[in-house]
Amino acid sequence: MTLMIPFARRTALAAALAGTLAPRARAQSGPSRIGVIGSGRLGGAVGTLWAKAGHPVLFSSRNPERLRELVEAAGPNARAGTPAEAAAFGDAVLVAVPYGALPQVGRDLAGALRGKVVLDACNAVAARDGAIAQEVAERGIGITSAHYLPGTRLVRAFNTLGSRVLTEQAHRQGAPMAIPLAGDDAAALEIASALVRDAGFDPVVVGPLARASEFAMGARGYGKQVTAPELRQILGLPS
Ligand SMILES: NC(=O)c1ccc[n+]([C@@H]2O[C@H](COP(=O)([O-])OP(=O)(O)OC[C@H]3O[C@@H](n4cnc5c(N)ncnc54)[C@H](OP(=O)(O)O)[C@@H]3O)[C@@H](O)[C@H]2O)c1
Repeated sequence: MTLMIPFARRTALAAALAGTLAPRARAQSGPSRIGVIGSGRLGGAVGTLWAKAGHPVLFSSRNPERLRELVEAAGPNARAGTPAEAAAFGDAVLVAVPYGALPQVGRDLAGALRGKVVLDACNAVAARDGAIAQEVAERGIGITSAHYLPGTRLVRAFNTLGSRVLTEQAHRQGAPMAIPLAGDDAAALEIASALVRDAGFDPVVVGPLARASEFAMGARGYGKQVTAPELRQILGLPS
């Protein structure tokens, strides 16, 4: 297996995982296992970046046989399975489904996702997701996701940039592009930040889940292809 993650970074992620995750994760050293729920454009793109960085990635689909091409392109660290298998496999789990599917994912996978670091990249779009988009508008997206993914160590991440931008700009020359994050669990935010770096970006922790609205679709932090200092300035965060 070719590991492209710098050693110090791998060590940091392993240390972050060691202190905070389920017993199986504590025994691990080196790359962490990542489950991907929703291996479409966004989940496929981000999961591929992690697989290429050396993390074992289980992409999932309700029809896993349809993921053959994605798994082949992502390389030897990638495999395919069902959403339940991805939830069980991951030390960390990326959820990238249409927002309207989030309540069902949360219900179906509640047991497997309990206590896990879950990176939620889902955006709520009324035309696609229906009434839940109104709930998101009223409660805020971080609080709504936490409601539908109870018991997880939730971090909002990877929701602001298109999948093509992520693929093209990962590990770019010069200052990396920023990815905003929000979460209520400090250790989970550290793990998610390490995973953002491994994907080739610069994490910017905006604050608790209640502040995820600041980079939700349509908000000032959304869709900004900028560096971390620039994003901090846009969001009024200390530099
Ligand atoms: N595309 C982007 O550039 C982008 C950027 C930022 C954020 N996002 C957000 O990321 C999420 C995914 O977007 P996408 O563009 O990647 O969508 P997509 O290409 O349509 O992929 C979504 C995947 O979700 C899975 N899915 C749908 N319903 C499900 C359910 N009930 N249970 C389990 N899996 C389910 C589908 O997998 P199977 O049918 O194979 O099971 C599908 O492959 C959305 O919330 C979107 O707003 C997307």
